Amino acid sequence: MGLKLTFGWVCLLILSLSVCITEAQGQTKDFNVKNYGAIADGKTDNSKAFLKAWKEACEWTGRARVWIPMGTYRVNSAKFEGPCKGPIAFVIKGYLKAPTEPSLFITENWINFRYVNNLTVSGGGVLDGQGKEAWAYNDCNKNPNCPSLPTTMRFDFVTNAWVHHLRSINSKNTHIVVFGCVDVRITTTRISAPADSPNTDGIKMANSRGIKIQQTTIRTGDDCIAMLAGTSQVRIFNVTCGPGHGISIGSLGKDGDKNDLFDIKVRNCSFHNTSDGIRIKTWASPGIGKVSSLIYEDIFMNQVGNPIIIDQEYCPYPPCKTQPSRVQISNVTYRNIWGNSGSKVAVTFRCSQSRPCRDLVMENINLHYHGRDGEGSTAICNNVKGESLGHQNPASCI
Ligand SMILES: *[C@@H]1O[C@H](CO)[C@@H](O)[C@H](O)[C@H]1NC(C)=O
Ligand SMILES: *[C@@H]1O[C@H](CO)[C@@H](O)[C@H](O)[C@H]1NC(C)=O
Ligand SMILES: *[C@@H]1O[C@H](CO)[C@@H](O)[C@H](O)[C@H]1NC(C)=O
Ligand SMILES: *[C@@H]1O[C@H](CO)[C@@H](O)[C@H](O)[C@H]1NC(C)=O
Ligand SMILES: *[C@@H]1O[C@H](CO)[C@@H](O)[C@H](O)[C@H]1NC(C)=O
Repeated sequence: MGLKLTFGWVCLLILSLSVCITEAQGQTKDFNVKNYGAIADGKTDNSKAFLKAWKEACEWTGRARVWIPMGTYRVNSAKFEGPCKGPIAFVIKGYLKAPTEPSLFITENWINFRYVNNLTVSGGGVLDGQGKEAWAYNDCNKNPNCPSLPTTMRFDFVTNAWVHHLRSINSKNTHIVVFGCVDVRITTTRISAPADSPNTDGIKMANSRGIKIQQTTIRTGDDCIAMLAGTSQVRIFNVTCGPGHGISIGSLGKDGDKNDLFDIKVRNCSFHNTSDGIRIKTWASPGIGKVSSLIYEDIFMNQVGNPIIIDQEYCPYPPCKTQPSRVQISNVTYRNIWGNSGSKVAVTFRCSQSRPCRDLVMENINLHYHGRDGEGSTAICNNVKGESLGHQNPASCI
């Protein structure tokens, strides 16, 4: 009986020990930036304190959480690097302010996450890029070698990440850049900058796959979303865009790089007062590449300059060297796109002479234009092969 009892106790001990271990792994440890010297006075630079908190959180073997409480924190540029020992969250409850001194603009990024796996960035806080102080330094429309201003938040080689419940306002340059990443979700995020702020793209991605952008509102001065070379498996659902330049693929093919993009779905999105809606742009330059397997579906256009456009003669700052684009666009479906166009030409397919667009499908398109003389919307096709199904307004040119 004594033996039985001891055995029972050992069992209990082992059981509670394993419960303990499981709990330690399941528990989240907080690393509050205030405990690392952060001061929420809106003036003191807190980048060192944030980095210290990050460093310890990153070393923690369980779930770690860098915690930025309510308050206004001035932060100069900061690089948060992995790999970390466990899943890590960056919780922004506060209001983060970027620097306004021009001497601090000569960095590529403001807040940069690199080489992190299992990252969450959330908290309901604000990233204020203080772009107003910097936009005047942007001369990229005249100077091809213009120095670029910092991106608000950039992810490099990050995997399995979720960005949610955040606000990014007045970025100096792009709000969010995703580069070399796999499986990144951006949801319930609000992005804004004035319509006339230069190069303030909302979300820009390249060399990445498995990117989901959902329930997100983007009002900005450049592309709401831009997908560049090397991007695949993108799902953009329930995004509201405008003002801005729409949701774009490209620009591509400016240089000799390979410019492949495929498997992209844009669904259930709306555009309000944007210069362009859904756009694919390639330079009339020697760069090669393929853009294929795209679906644009259930999209509402409200006063959009060019609701549907493929421009393979993209040249934002003329003059450009020109030769027919060598980027091949194929298998693109536009289905259930409705609303009104801000210009008479609601559909523009200006495809390459040497690589005509192939397998373009237009299905149930209803884009109105209210011209002075009661004229309606029109479509332009150059070098296009494909088919039209269902209702077509403007009359299809395929
Ligand atoms: C962390 O990421 C790996 C894959 O990279 C995944 O298998 C694992 O479940 C993740 N862990 C947590 C706790 O999210
Ligand atoms: C889009 O939003 C609606 C309502 O807000 C929601 O029911 C639906 O699940 C969302 N779809 C996606 C794919 O996020
Ligand atoms: C599309 O959005 C509407 C309203 O915003 C929502 O009711 C619907 O569920 C969404 N559909 C999908 C497929 O996400
Ligand atoms: C549309 O955008 C233009 C320029 O970006 C702006 O002047 C105008 O007020 C906007 N209209 C609406 C209805 O938002
Ligand atoms: C065309 O694109 C659709 C949607 O992405 C995809 O399911 C299909 O396999 C593609 N077809 C070809 C021939 O690549």
